[in-house]
Amino acid sequence: MWEKTQETVKFLKEKGFVNMDYGIILGTGLGNFTDNIDISIRIPYEDIPHFPVSTVSGHQGELIYGTIGNKKVLAMRGRFHYYEGWTLQEATFPVRVMKYLGIENLIVSNASGGVNAQFKTGDVMIISDHINMMPEHPLNGTNDERFGPRFVDMHEAYSLDMIAHMEKIAKTDNIRIQKGVYLALQGPTFETPAEYGMVRNLGADAVGMSTVPEVIVAKHMGMTCFGLSVITDLGIEGQVEEVSHEEVQIVAKKAERIVGQLVEKFIATY
Ligand code: HPA
Repeated sequence: MWEKTQETVKFLKEKGFVNMDYGIILGTGLGNFTDNIDISIRIPYEDIPHFPVSTVSGHQGELIYGTIGNKKVLAMRGRFHYYEGWTLQEATFPVRVMKYLGIENLIVSNASGGVNAQFKTGDVMIISDHINMMPEHPLNGTNDERFGPRFVDMHEAYSLDMIAHMEKIAKTDNIRIQKGVYLALQGPTFETPAEYGMVRNLGADAVGMSTVPEVIVAKHMGMTCFGLSVITDLGIEGQVEEVSHEEVQIVAKKAERIVGQLVEKFIATY
């Protein structure tokens, strides 16, 4: 893994991926956030050595380099999910690469099902913390100390300072924003009503199939993380409705402009 990471980093540095302030992982339906980036380089995943290649429709696969305000960003348009068959080590490989490209700040976005009765579909939720209920762990196995320690502190997986900054932006711009705990399940099924109930009982506000492994790996390497989740459907007791991937995409797409505005402002001012 170390050697592969260094090879990919070398390749990307030679392509011009240098001096970045932020890494951004764009989730379901948020791919067009790239419109907010003044793009200078884009490379499809299949052209990058050792990179996995995404298989889900709606999850485009390319790495983008550009600027937002006076900040340089690397954006992953399309991510890798456990349910596609990747091991979590494979799925989180791009985060390893980000770190050794010199990136210290990671911003993640995703779509999720809301289980908090205060939530509405289309809401944007700041991820305050997570609960890892994935069946595998990305740090399972022999630990490579060059990446980070065996036992990783997770007391502030999502930067409190970044959360406060985003809350301030939302308030100033009069944007309705939620804050809550994201719980990760393996998917690819959406949850049964009983499972949504379990998610709520476990102390979460939203449930999804991504993000947590990426943040764990980022924390392993000492990165600072911030996450936004678009609530695309609701799994609230007594009112669980049918949900489809298409619907998730449609709702996420509608929220895209707001998420774009929030993240753009955040990056320009943090
Ligand atoms: N459950 C899991 N993942 C999701 C959901 C959901 O309800 N909505 C969007 N991604």
